[in-house]
Amino acid sequence: MTSVLKIGGNQLDDPAFIAGMAQIVARMPDLPVIVHGGGKGIKSLQEKLGIEPRYVDGLRVTDAATMEVVAMVLVGQANISLVAALIKAGVQAQGFNGADRWLLRGKKFQHPGADLERVGEVAAVNTTVLKEALGAKVVPVIAPVLLGEDGGFFNANADRAAGAVAAALNADQVTFLTDVPGVLKDGSVITEISRSDVQRLISDGVITGGMAVKLNAALDALSAGVGKAQITNLEGLAQNSGTLVLA
Ligand SMILES: Nc1ncnc2c1ncn2[C@@H]1O[C@H](COP(=O)(O)OP(=O)(O)O)[C@@H](O)[C@H]1O
Ligand SMILES: [Mg+2]
Repeated sequence: MTSVLKIGGNQLDDPAFIAGMAQIVARMPDLPVIVHGGGKGIKSLQEKLGIEPRYVDGLRVTDAATMEVVAMVLVGQANISLVAALIKAGVQAQGFNGADRWLLRGKKFQHPGADLERVGEVAAVNTTVLKEALGAKVVPVIAPVLLGEDGGFFNANADRAAGAVAAALNADQVTFLTDVPGVLKDGSVITEISRSDVQRLISDGVITGGMAVKLNAALDALSAGVGKAQITNLEGLAQNSGTLVLA
C-alpha cells in the first residue's frame, strides 16, 4: 500500500507529539511518504525578525524575505526534528526538499483575488526519488519548498503539496494529521464528509482557514485518483478514526 502522511506545522515543536507520531509510523506495515508543514515555527521566526505574517484564505502571502524564513524553518528545524524522531523510533528516515533531485517542481499559485507572491503549487513530482527510498525501506520526509523553473523557490501549502505527492504516486491513501480529531461541527467530529458538505460548511462559516485548505487539498487528491483521504489527529491515527473525505 502506498500512503502519504501530512504532518501539520502546529505540533512540530512538541516533542511528545513527534515521538508519538514516530512510534505509530514504526508500527505501520507499509512505510509512508511524509510531507510536513511548519506554520507555527515560520510564524514565530517571522515575528522574531519583525516580519508581519499575512494570510489570504488561510495561505501565507510570501514575499522574498518571507520565502527565506520559510526555507530556513521547513528545510531546517522542522525537517530535521521529524527525521530525528523517526530515527530514534527505529525508522530509517531521510529528509528531502523540493530542490533535491528536483523532487518538487514548482509554479506560481494563481489566486483569483490577490498576488500571494512566492506561493507556489506543485507542477511535477520526481516520483523515482520517493520510490527508490521506499524500496530501500527509507521513509522520505519532505519539506514542501518547491524549486521553480525560474531557479527561485516557492512556498507550497503543505496540505496541497501532500495531496499533489499522493496524486503523483497514485497513492492508496493520504492522511492529514492535524491538531483536531477531524472536521468539527457543533463540537463533534463529522465522520464522513462529501464534496457538497464541504462547500456548504465553508459557505456557512463552519469550516474556515487551514481546515478549508486541507479539505480542498483532500478533494483534489481524490479527483486525481487517490483512493482515500482522511483527516485526524495523533490519537485518531492510532485508532483509525477521524473524518473520511468522500470523492
Ligand atoms: N470545522 C472545523 N473543524 C476543525 N477545525 C477547524 C474547522 N474550521 C477551522 N478549523 C481550524 O483548522 C485548524 C487546522 O488547520 P491548520 O491550523 O492549518 O493545521 P495544520 O498545521 O494541521 O495544517 C484547526 O486547529 C482549527 O482551528
Ligand atoms: Mg494548515
